[in-house]
Parts: sequence; structure tokens; C-alpha cells
Amino acid sequence: MSIRPARRSAPPLAVVRLAVALRRLLLRAADAVVPGYLAVYDKMMGAPTTVLLHVVARLRIPDLIEEHGPLTADELAARTGSDADALGRVMRALVSSNVFQRAGDDRFAHNGVSRALITGRFGTIRGFAEFFGLPPLLRAWAELPQTVARGGSAFGRAHGRDIWAWMGEDDVARAAFVEGMSDITEQAAPSIAAAYPFNEVRRLCDVGGGSGMVLAAVLAWHPHLEGVLYDAPEMLAEAPPRLAANGVSDRVECVPGSFFERVPSGCDAYLIKTVLHNWPDEGALKILENCRAAMRPGQRLIVVDFLYERPSTLISYMDIAGLAIFADGRERRRADFERLFQKAGFRIGRVRPIPGDQAVIEGVAVA
Ligand SMILES: C[S@@+](CC[C@H](N)C(=O)[O-])C[C@H]1O[C@@H](n2cnc3c(N)ncnc32)[C@H](O)[C@@H]1O
Repeated sequence: MSIRPARRSAPPLAVVRLAVALRRLLLRAADAVVPGYLAVYDKMMGAPTTVLLHVVARLRIPDLIEEHGPLTADELAARTGSDADALGRVMRALVSSNVFQRAGDDRFAHNGVSRALITGRFGTIRGFAEFFGLPPLLRAWAELPQTVARGGSAFGRAHGRDIWAWMGEDDVARAAFVEGMSDITEQAAPSIAAAYPFNEVRRLCDVGGGSGMVLAAVLAWHPHLEGVLYDAPEMLAEAPPRLAANGVSDRVECVPGSFFERVPSGCDAYLIKTVLHNWPDEGALKILENCRAAMRPGQRLIVVDFLYERPSTLISYMDIAGLAIFADGRERRRADFERLFQKAGFRIGRVRPIPGDQAVIEGVAVA
């Protein structure tokens, strides 16, 4: 995986929203021109498609095609140690879903969609394509009917522990997750760095900051800032190359720990990005209370998370992923954040939407 400096400019929110709205309209139109059962049939293929994407991402087929140009199923199978017939059928199914295209009779080539599966490119989603098709996650989805019947996290029902405990022990899953999370966070980072007046902050703690992508980007944009990266020790182990690539290693202290036990004190602002949505209200409240305990009145908590304002496919499916694979997490409306903030000792401050159905939501610690 290549690691790049994160300093880029943010895409205009209005342009992103327009493109997403246009795509939604076209997808609806595509459903409207065929009988309903054909549209349903396509949607029923969601689970197989998750697995097909997992297969090609895991085998790094997109990297091979990028490196060598269009390849046949036999050539791809020889380079990956796979069964040529099965791999060829996987590739043909993906071509039918507009991932890859045919080049001549028997070669497979990139198209705009499959290029988003090339390792290390800006805008890639390869890591998540591998991660979301891992067998333990598919087993969690299979428990969703039981969750609908009785509530509770499907992952917990399938595996008897939460996804973070599993990832702490599974190196393949953790590597794919860190790569995927860092790649999508890299795309969001310029919008976050631009959406909040970080010039008002001196020392920023990133709570559940993962491999440090957001903190690195914010510090790269704001040279006066110092940072504390707080996460589980296995996650922090992934941070040094990313901090180094952004030239911010000497301004970041990595602190291992659990946000359910404590959050480090001594910073004047706290950032928490796409963490609260992984947890139900009790968990999210505990994390917020521990942030508040580390803070003085008037200090700022900067929450970056999904904001459930309109039911887009992205946020609706993230909400269901919370139920199925995260520890009974959920997406929240502004009123939900206000309620949790108030219980934990914050009042809501500035709220700035950013692309991807997310927002930067400020909480001000009250006395
Ligand atoms: C969805 S990821 C977000 C990572 C990062 N904030 C980002 O947006 O790129 C959630 C993070 O929460 C961390 N996490 C989970 N449980 C934790 C705990 N008990 N204490 C500290 N961090 C935890 C995970 O290791 C992971 O890095």
C-alpha cells in the first residue's frame, strides 16, 4: 500500500451533492424502464456481488491489469494461483455489473469503476472491497433476520464478541480495514480540515483516530497544531508511516487506550471521526462522557460523523451495517446528537455539512 501526503483541496459540497442526486435519478430511471421483477433480481445479487468484489480485491486483479494491460482469465489465474474457469466466470459476472470491461474476445481490461480497486491510488476503495466480503462479516449479515426478530448486533450474535475485538486479533481483517478506512478518510480529510476553524486550536486529540489519517491531514493543513492520536495499540501501530508521509511525526504523540475507560486530558480540543456511529446510544454516551471528563468548560469537541438528514443509499446502508456488523451502531439525526451532547455535558455549536452525508458537529463543554 502506498502512503501519500494528504494535503489536497476539498471538492465543493454543492457539486458533490448534484452528482449524487443525478446518479440516484438515473438509477431510479433504470429501474423504471424494466418490469419490477428484473430490478428486484438485480438487487438480490447484492450478496454475490460483495463476494465477487472481495475475490478480485484480495487477489489484486485490478493491480495486475493496471500493471500488464488487459489479461485473459488463464493469465490472471496463472499469476494468482487460481482456477482459470472459476476466475473467468467471476470476471464475466463483474463485467456484467460494469466493473471491468472486455478487451477483444477473451481479455479483461479496466474501466472507470474497476480503477477504484487499484491499490494505493487516490480515490481507491480496494481495502474495503476486500474487508466487507470477509467470511466473518458475511456470517454476521446472515444473522440479520434474528436481529430483526429480537434486536441486538448481528455480529455479536454470530461471533460472541464485537467487531473491534475480532479485528484486534485478525491481522488480515485489520490490514484491509485500516487500508479502506484510511483511503476513504483521505478523501474526506480536506473537507474536514477546511470545515472547522482549527486556527482556534493548539493541541488536538483524535479519539479513536485509527491510523492517523485525519489527524495527519489536519496537522498538515495547520502547521501550528500539535496532536494526540488515541486508539487501541494495534491500530496505533499502523500510524507511523502515515504521520511520516505528511511530515507531522514530530508533532504527534500516540497514546494507546480505550475510550470506554478514559480519554487523555491536556488537549484544548477533541476530534472524534466516524466513531460514535459504530455504537448504540449507551456506548456513544460513555465515549462522550469520557471526552467531557478530559475537558474543561468552554473547550470544543469536534464530531465528524454521518448526519441522517435525507435517506440516501449510503447513509441508509451505513445504518444497517451498524446493526449487522458494528456493535449495534446507528446513524443519527441532529436532534439525536443534541440529546447525547446534552446528557454528556456539551451544548451543540457549529454544524457544517461535508460531502458523503457527513457533518462536522461542534460540541462545547458546559460547566
Ligand atoms: C470507524 S474507525 C474510525 C477511525 C478514524 N477516526 C477515521 O475516521 O479514519 C473506528 C475507530 O475506533 C477505534 N476503536 C474501537 N474501539 C475502541 C476503544 N475501545 N478505544 C479506542 N479506540 C477504539 C478503532 O480501532 C477504529 O480505529
